[in-house]
Amino acid sequence: MNALANPFRFGTVVDGIYFTDREKEIKQIGSYLRGANHLIIISPRRFGKTSLIKKILGETGSRYIYLDLQLVVSEEDFASQLLKRIYRIFPFQKLRGKIRSFRIIPSVMIHPVTGETEISFKPGSKDLTPLEDVLQLIEKLGTEKDRIKVVLDEFQEIFRINPGLDRILRSIMQNHKNINYIFMGSSESMLREIFEKKNSAFYRFGSLYLLGKIPEVKFRDFLLERFGPMTDKAEKLSRDVLKITGSHPYYTQQLAFNVWELLKTTGFQSGMVETAADGIIRNHDNDYERLWHTFNRTDRLVLTGMALSTLSPLSEEFRGQFGAGAPSTVFSSLQRLTSRGILIKENASYQMDDPFFRRWIISRRQQ
Ligand SMILES: Nc1ncnc2c1ncn2[C@@H]1O[C@H](COP(=O)(O)OP(=O)(O)OP(=O)(O)O)[C@@H](O)[C@H]1O
Ligand SMILES: [Mg+2]
Repeated sequence: MNALANPFRFGTVVDGIYFTDREKEIKQIGSYLRGANHLIIISPRRFGKTSLIKKILGETGSRYIYLDLQLVVSEEDFASQLLKRIYRIFPFQKLRGKIRSFRIIPSVMIHPVTGETEISFKPGSKDLTPLEDVLQLIEKLGTEKDRIKVVLDEFQEIFRINPGLDRILRSIMQNHKNINYIFMGSSESMLREIFEKKNSAFYRFGSLYLLGKIPEVKFRDFLLERFGPMTDKAEKLSRDVLKITGSHPYYTQQLAFNVWELLKTTGFQSGMVETAADGIIRNHDNDYERLWHTFNRTDRLVLTGMALSTLSPLSEEFRGQFGAGAPSTVFSSLQRLTSRGILIKENASYQMDDPFFRRWIISRRQQ
């Protein structure tokens, strides 16, 4: 590790020295995927789903295709993006004969500079035959012994592409024996709708895996090891960081990154974790302000109450103290805020997702 390079990273997929723990998850998910199972991985935003699955698939050496459905704009684009990724792992020659049997023959171009393959069927078209042909192609390329893993991230986005896509996909995918599908997403309620409701298309299609935070003791070691070479107060700094972030993977790395930068310039100073946290809040002041304006009155009362107290928002005391209204009003606000990712539900209790937003609310009220 370069002594001057910040050893923390946030906002991108992490691996190597930036990745910690997930030992239990790597074992469990690895074992699911050795069998013929499909898997649904759910967690709130930025808990580390993408980093984890890429690490697992990278380490097992399996052939895999990863597609983030947020980037897909149409049915045709879905097929093109998948096929483009097939070209990354299979040689041209092998694919040539198989694509000949497609009902619509795509145009395939090699970008002269990047060397990447660009595919298009009929740009923007809602025709579903290309998608079906591409999925059947993946099935043909895999074998029962060496299944191809197909990761569809932010899977709830299928409804934006086409409201009936769940049923169509299910009817194709249910016959596949040479593919392990891995569906991922951060909208727990939507994914549960797709995979757990009795009358839903993907009912019990695979095992549901809920990814949690990184345990505090594991994260503390990770922080200690990185603050250690900079100061003999590493233990205190690590605890202070985790106290603010509650071991949330992204926010922990973000705060640790900023603390490390301060350490580099000033050395240890008491209160420096708070200083770093205040810096982050100042940086996001505009975003938080804009976000705040999108909430209705009840949402604001609930969020304020949650920022200022540890009471359960559904308790009588909370509702009385913060004037948040009837239990049903508070409940629908909690649901709304959870589906927007502002709150996360952990062990049946609600928490604010972003510890810095929480602090922003508190500091705004003190102004
Ligand atoms: N195993 C890990 N060890 C250390 N930090 C991690 C780990 N996993 C995730 N993080 C931190 O969380 C951030 C988000 O990770 P990642 O993008 O994999 O999460 P995600 O759940 O896919 O997020 P999104 O909801 O935005 O798709 C990373 O940039 C990193 O800072
Ligand atoms: Mg992700």
